[in-house]
Amino acid sequence: MVDASPLFQPLKIKGFTVRNRIVLPPMVELRGITSDAGIEWYRERSAGVGLTIVEATPTVRVVDEFSVEGLRRLTDAIHAGGALAAIQLFPIPFSWPMKDPVPTPADMDNASVELMLERYRLAAAKCAQAGFDGVEPHGAHGYLLNQFFSPKQNTRTDWYGGSLEKRMRMGMEVVRAARRGLGRDKLLLYRHTPVEDGAYGIEDSLLFAAKLVEAGVDVLDISPASAEAPGDRSEPFRKLGVPVIAVNHMDLVERTVEAMEKGRADLIAVGRGMIADPQWPQKVQAGKSDEIVKCVLCNKKCFGHLKKGLAVECTQWQGGGSV
Ligand SMILES: Cc1cc2nc3c(=O)[nH]c(=O)nc-3n(C[C@H](O)[C@H](O)[C@H](O)COP(=O)(O)O)c2cc1C
Repeated sequence: MVDASPLFQPLKIKGFTVRNRIVLPPMVELRGITSDAGIEWYRERSAGVGLTIVEATPTVRVVDEFSVEGLRRLTDAIHAGGALAAIQLFPIPFSWPMKDPVPTPADMDNASVELMLERYRLAAAKCAQAGFDGVEPHGAHGYLLNQFFSPKQNTRTDWYGGSLEKRMRMGMEVVRAARRGLGRDKLLLYRHTPVEDGAYGIEDSLLFAAKLVEAGVDVLDISPASAEAPGDRSEPFRKLGVPVIAVNHMDLVERTVEAMEKGRADLIAVGRGMIADPQWPQKVQAGKSDEIVKCVLCNKKCFGHLKKGLAVECTQWQGGGSV
């Protein structure tokens, strides 16, 4: 059996210690992050990981809808198992299944840009107050912030579109706004997609990531991070001097360990694997990887439920059990 000890080395990031290298990546679960069921979902999945990143949550909901007390129940549940707590912040309102047309960079006038940035500041401040250790603007997967970076999606000809320098600007402004709300000491993460075919490649992404780090990012969350080998697309970002998270099909312990041992990532996120078996980290640590309830990539009750607007579940996990 593969030696998984590289996964269980703590990592210091600023004033924080992540107890191990396993991250629960942001995953919309459709229970409601401050509902009892949502809090239990996160409590269960935070018991073994080093860092939990709560699902994409619109800044406007954080600002206008959730109470500090409600969010505090969530951070308490995550911290109770020993994980750090971060939350992914989404720039615009959304609900699943996504039906309504969502704004693109071309649709946004100055007032909506200002509002978006102000909401990032306010949401980050509220999350800090509610006990989150960090926040993560969602800059990946072709959504709005990723579109600002993409020459294919961003047709603006002003301050925010055109040259690479201009396409980097919105991400940097979002990061600065979030940092203003968050304060100096907490963690600022940023999720970015390293390559978009026919639009941009890893070299442009590296220049962008360097600017994000200059603007205040403490952790780069690269998604998806693998093409030919586990973590091959997160590896180049490590030279920027901040910890890098790799995600995508990392739930096979061999892949995770390979990425760590070859120095391709500092932290590894296990998504669907943690839906299939919330005790993934505990089983790996106990040398019982063969007892893991494996994700079979059927996507039926995770992505499939999401598309129908139903609470995310798994065809494999039956719940219960302990290591
Ligand atoms: C049900 C579900 C919801 C997801 N929601 C989000 C999200 O809110 N934000 C995000 O950046 N990625 C989201 N993702 C993508 C995951 O964070 C992760 O990048 C992806 O599942 C690949 O990792 P895996 O192979 O370990 O599952 C979601 C994935 C799933 C399965």
